[in-house]
Amino acid sequence: MSVTNGYDAEVASKIVARFDAKPELLIQILRGVVERFGYVPEAAVRQLADELNLSRADVHGVVSYYHDFRTEPPGKHIVKICQAEACQAMGSRELTAHAEDALGIRMHGSNDDITLEPVYCLGNCACSPAIMIDERTHGRVNSQRFDELIGGLEADD
Ligand code: FES
Repeated sequence: MSVTNGYDAEVASKIVARFDAKPELLIQILRGVVERFGYVPEAAVRQLADELNLSRADVHGVVSYYHDFRTEPPGKHIVKICQAEACQAMGSRELTAHAEDALGIRMHGSNDDITLEPVYCLGNCACSPAIMIDERTHGRVNSQRFDELIGGLEADD
């Protein structure tokens, strides 16, 4: 799945139509937009408001409430670090601080290559701290392992 496609209003209209343009299905529609385009651009906010007969403030409110609905194009890779209890107990805060320093971005931020996001349990608690890179989960990740995994991404690109 490409997450950096340019926005296409026609495609967005098809996503809205798939949910019968029901305003109560705004969250599902936004999920469809993020799946297709990787983020919710301002043009999508305007279009969804028009097509669902909602105010822009209504759509903005939902977009800003859920961090999954990022409003900027993501990097080529999405790196999620688990912040839930078991992973915190095993050092995910320290790992997050390391990741932010190593990548030069803060949580929810992106550089050209990587978007860094929190996640709350990856179902991999027995192997804490856990991270997910794109669709793949990795367990027992310390700073050194994190650097190796990120280095592998750069080598693959
Ligand atoms: S708490 Fe991190 S994977 Fe479950």
